[in-house]
Amino acid sequence: MATAFSRLSELVRATSMRQVRLVCGVILFSYVVSHFLNHALGNISVDAMEIGVYYHTAFWRFLPIAIVFYTAALTHMGLGIYALYQRRQFRWRTIEPLQLVLGLSIPALVMAHVIGVRLGYTLYGHQKLYPQELYLFFVTSNRIWTMTILLIIAWVHGCIGIYFWLRLKPFFARAAPYLLAAAVLIPTLSLLGVYQGGRSVQIEVDDGEWRAHNLTRRQLGSTAEAATLDRITGGLTIGYVGLLGLALAARGVRALRERRRGMIALSYGNGKTVRVPKGLSVLEASLRHNVPHASVCGGRARCSTCRIRIIGDHAALPEPSQREAFVLARVGTADPSIRLACQLRPDSDLSFFQLFTPHTHSADGQASTSARIGQERYLVSLFVDMRGSTQLAEKRLPFDTVFIVNRFLG
Ligand code: FES
Repeated sequence: MATAFSRLSELVRATSMRQVRLVCGVILFSYVVSHFLNHALGNISVDAMEIGVYYHTAFWRFLPIAIVFYTAALTHMGLGIYALYQRRQFRWRTIEPLQLVLGLSIPALVMAHVIGVRLGYTLYGHQKLYPQELYLFFVTSNRIWTMTILLIIAWVHGCIGIYFWLRLKPFFARAAPYLLAAAVLIPTLSLLGVYQGGRSVQIEVDDGEWRAHNLTRRQLGSTAEAATLDRITGGLTIGYVGLLGLALAARGVRALRERRRGMIALSYGNGKTVRVPKGLSVLEASLRHNVPHASVCGGRARCSTCRIRIIGDHAALPEPSQREAFVLARVGTADPSIRLACQLRPDSDLSFFQLFTPHTHSADGQASTSARIGQERYLVSLFVDMRGSTQLAEKRLPFDTVFIVNRFLG
């Protein structure tokens, strides 16, 4: 019992908010893949889409799965809004801000579809499946363009997240061509399927029998019910935009408060000193002032390459968070003067030096130079190995190992 409890507390300590976001994102991405494959059946026929959606809904509406799915959706959205508030400094040249903007736009774009289909079913028993939705998208409105944009945004957002998750896995280099093929094929087939399905419905819509079978009031609902669902969509969209506004306003308030609380000086131990408001992490301060700083995992507390050694008294520094303490313990650092720059937010002047030189920015460990066509040359070759490299890989975090090996190779 005690062992189970200590394992659980270890797991909680080891889990960061980003990992929760990742797990929720993977659940949502699984839904998206399943939904897109269902769309792709439109390349066969609308009937095939209908058969597909039967299994799709049977799985995702199964109560335990539905609870997990909606919890993941709400958590992922909440963490996205929190990230908008929490991240003080974005690396604008990286893909991170794009990922955040794409992610935050999804709830606003998907709201009408979810309310129309899911809430319409729950409140009024509407049965809006493919024929009905394609009719609404292609015949009665131009919403197909919104859905196309949504489809592309959701897919790109998911693929970026999956790429950042998998790029360091040992199998990634081998799996990358297949993953890329899937990343291109699935949305393409999905969009083509929707288009083909829409064309079929546009042709069928003049057939009285088809209309009597597919456009009943029970399936589409009444005008009053549609108006109610539209009002709910409008209200929730305003609420969501309000939440985003609130997060931005909270950023402004925090910036003002931090400015009032005063500025602190961070000295890098090489003569360089920057002045930043209290509350910024050391890594954010480096990014803000373009000071090179190793941060292989991008400030996610998943490597330890941003480590700094505090010069002088470290007793006044804030205590390490659970996650920071976990990472430092994981790399065997018991020295309290060693901290993670991405987690440490000092409130007084600080002098430190970086433990790793900041040459490596990405963890993919792949050379950026393109391969050359072969040429004949005379060479002297020298074989070099790293002593104890197996133990090194066993004891350190994967990010750190890649970083050290890259530096060794460099
Ligand atoms: S940048 Fe990876 S732990 Fe700080």
